[in-house]
Amino acid sequence: MIEVSHFTKRYGEFVAVDDLNLSIGKGEVFGFIGPNGAGKSTTIRFLATLLRPTSGEGRVAGHSVVADPMAVRKVIGFMPDDFGVYDGMKVWEFLDFFAVAYEIPRAYRKKIIGQVLELLDLTHKRDDYVNGLSKGMKQRLCLAKTLVHDPPVLILDEPASGLDPRARLEMKALLSELRGMGKTILVSSHILSELADFCTSIGIIERGKLLAAGSIQEIQRQLRAHRVLKVRVLDESTEQAASIMRDEPNVKTVETYDQTLTAEFHGEDEDLARLLGRLMTSGVSVHSFAEEELSLEEVFMMITKGIVN
Ligand SMILES: Nc1ncnc2c1ncn2[C@@H]1O[C@H](COP(=O)(O)OP(=O)(O)OP(=O)(O)O)[C@@H](O)[C@H]1O
Ligand SMILES: [Mg+2]
Repeated sequence: MIEVSHFTKRYGEFVAVDDLNLSIGKGEVFGFIGPNGAGKSTTIRFLATLLRPTSGEGRVAGHSVVADPMAVRKVIGFMPDDFGVYDGMKVWEFLDFFAVAYEIPRAYRKKIIGQVLELLDLTHKRDDYVNGLSKGMKQRLCLAKTLVHDPPVLILDEPASGLDPRARLEMKALLSELRGMGKTILVSSHILSELADFCTSIGIIERGKLLAAGSIQEIQRQLRAHRVLKVRVLDESTEQAASIMRDEPNVKTVETYDQTLTAEFHGEDEDLARLLGRLMTSGVSVHSFAEEELSLEEVFMMITKGIVN
């Protein structure tokens, strides 16, 4: 649904984005993550047809961002990182303004605005002036205006920035709802954990380069040369479990601490399943058996500090 190939943007000598490639399938929610100045907004503005590339191409729903920007604009809802609302306009007038801009016939406008207000929980603010809204509500209103033409693709640049924890959660719930409606979403943030639980895939960008992309599990896997297995057993089984695990060819090291065994594991999922089976049939009382996952913050720090790549 969204393709970026060899996108490069230079400002004079400075390379803001360097040969970036991305592919986001229909219905995916892609979290675009990177620290300040990484090139997120530059890439997003390119996809939103607001920025000419130095080189490279982008396609949204099959339309070329460079050659056919008007077609792209029809299929995307774009929420910029910093947006203004117009003073002296009421909430419904603000949405109506965008509905007119998208050439939605008058007969449908009222209904659509009603639906969008409902979706974003702004119905009770319909007749309020936009400049009197709180930051969180303005942000929701901005998301509302990206939805009036019912675009299949949403491109959202830090929709939760500047919001308090409650408003962030509300924004997250909204994005999940939009995901449930089948929208393809590209959403940026510099906070990894904020996006992790509802993104189907993420990309990590730093200093203009895409350092890693894929599902969170895939990225964790790429980062770790080996897997770390944590097995907890009942007290009397510790020694037996350790000896079975040491005997396993895919296990390199086993450390025991209390009733927890931590092993460096080099096998595949099937080997893991087999190992668990062996422990069980040998009568070891296993009460948890899991692969240790890197926390998202660990992943992010490892990638952006250049520990990998
Ligand atoms: N018009 C411009 N002229 C010169 N340099 C620019 C211009 N726009 C962006 N840059 C530079 O390009 C780099 C990438 O900027 P970009 O706004 O894409 O970062 P970002 O990842 O969105 O960061 P943030 O998290 O702060 O929003 C930055 O170093 C920025 O200073
Ligand atoms: Mg930005």
